[in-house]
Amino acid sequence: MDDLLRLRVRRRLAVVVVAALLAVEAEGYNITKILAEHPEYSQFNKLLTETRLAGDINRRRTITVLVVANGDMGALAAGHHTLPTLRHILEMHILVDYYGAKKLHQLSRGDTASSSMFQESGSAPGTTGYVNITQHRGGRVSFTAEDAADSATPSSFVKSVKEIPYDLAVLQISKPLSSPEAEAPVAPPAPVNLTELLSKKYCKSFAGLLAANADVFSNINATKDNGLTLFCPVDAAVDAFMPKFKNLTAKGKAAILLYHAVPDYYSLQLLKSNSGKVSTLATASVAKKDYSYDVQNDRDTVTLDTRVNTAAVTATVKDDDPLAVYAITKFLQPKELFKVAEDLAPAPAPAGPKKKTNKKKTKPATTSAAAAPSDDDSAADSPDDASADDAADKAGPAPSVLASWAIAAATAAAAALALAAWRNLLL
Ligand SMILES: *[C@@H]1O[C@H](CO)[C@@H](O)[C@H](O)[C@H]1NC(C)=O
Ligand SMILES: *[C@@H]1O[C@H](CO)[C@@H](O)[C@H](O)[C@H]1NC(C)=O
Ligand SMILES: *[C@@H]1O[C@H](CO)[C@@H](O)[C@H](O)[C@H]1NC(C)=O
Ligand SMILES: *[C@@H]1O[C@H](CO)[C@@H](O)[C@H](O)[C@H]1NC(C)=O
Ligand SMILES: *[C@@H]1O[C@H](CO)[C@@H](O)[C@H](O)[C@H]1NC(C)=O
Repeated sequence: MDDLLRLRVRRRLAVVVVAALLAVEAEGYNITKILAEHPEYSQFNKLLTETRLAGDINRRRTITVLVVANGDMGALAAGHHTLPTLRHILEMHILVDYYGAKKLHQLSRGDTASSSMFQESGSAPGTTGYVNITQHRGGRVSFTAEDAADSATPSSFVKSVKEIPYDLAVLQISKPLSSPEAEAPVAPPAPVNLTELLSKKYCKSFAGLLAANADVFSNINATKDNGLTLFCPVDAAVDAFMPKFKNLTAKGKAAILLYHAVPDYYSLQLLKSNSGKVSTLATASVAKKDYSYDVQNDRDTVTLDTRVNTAAVTATVKDDDPLAVYAITKFLQPKELFKVAEDLAPAPAPAGPKKKTNKKKTKPATTSAAAAPSDDDSAADSPDDASADDAADKAGPAPSVLASWAIAAATAAAAALALAAWRNLLL
């Protein structure tokens, strides 16, 4: 096989594997959606969203969520807890093991202690954060936080709401678990002045662009307390991109700024150990447009690949849940506004539903006045042939969507094996 052909085949395989993993991803669950089918838990569901635990639940496998009906919410509904405290309390209701109703009633020793997400969060000292599950005579099952006061009455199992065997169980309990440690007041995060934060380190020019666009600024500013990861291009990158930026329409300018903001908190640790696709604030604000990119990592380097260009994270400006700000080497260019780098465009894919989407996405967006063909600058932005090929290879075994990192490692391993097998066959 000549080199060019080999290159194409490899890329095609990478595309196939990515598509396969994305299909698996689609079967992941969405706790918000599951509970929305049961209006009697709407208050609990709303709190899972407000505390951003819904996303954490969706990313996990082998988990049990203990929910409480609206009428039983008690102090949880009274509104005297701050959001960070509520988060701790709800974390206590998320057990990091699978307890379907059947397993619950078959507990071998009659009782067991399960670790909760509160215990895993590191905020729970000692053995607090464990939940005792006890099976009583007559079959009643009760749940008690390890640190509950002796006077606290346990919460009883009411019924199973949803079970996806060995992945997710949603059980209704009679009332919220009582845990002094989880209920302890947590100081709300100190207010952050975004402009000041960005200006102080690396990203003064980008801060200026945000400040000059009031709608964009208020959107990003309003997201920062609920989970935000902002990738800010360093000053030199903004300077280099300015001619192209000025060429964009007002809508394009707003979109490309929002494109740098991901509405979820990702610690650097998480970015370094996982790869996948992220949606951005532009995804949410521009109808029917994707505006996503791939986060990849190679040892300690995190890169963002838009398929037009690739930027690397060079420094952490802030990494403190719920806000992370990372300085990046380049201004991210979305495929919705700029021409996809020839080199990274997918090879003609095998027939299948993916094909059409890919084709559509490679067309320049209609909103763009500046969808100019690749010029010198973007050519310089594109990885060269060899590294693009590397990137395509790496994209094979690892990718999964960030929203469902916890997909059984077996899936990834199987895909990697398949990829290896195909390679041996074809190359
Ligand atoms: C989960 O479902 C809710 C309600 O249907 C929806 O608003 C939300 O976007 C979904 N989340 C994800 C990650 O798909
Ligand atoms: C939980 O179980 C452990 C061990 O079975 C026991 O020592 C502890 O007292 C229990 N705590 C509560 C609050 O029931
Ligand atoms: C944030 O900081 C900038 C620059 O230091 C300042 O101009 C602005 O007034 C501050 N905003 C608030 C709300 O304090
Ligand atoms: C940004 O958000 C903070 C709250 O975190 C608020 O106090 C401030 O007024 C907001 N600034 C602007 C310009 O909207
Ligand atoms: C700006 O847009 C015009 C018209 O589409 C194009 O010819 C020109 O190359 C663009 N300039 C830059 C710097 O992208």
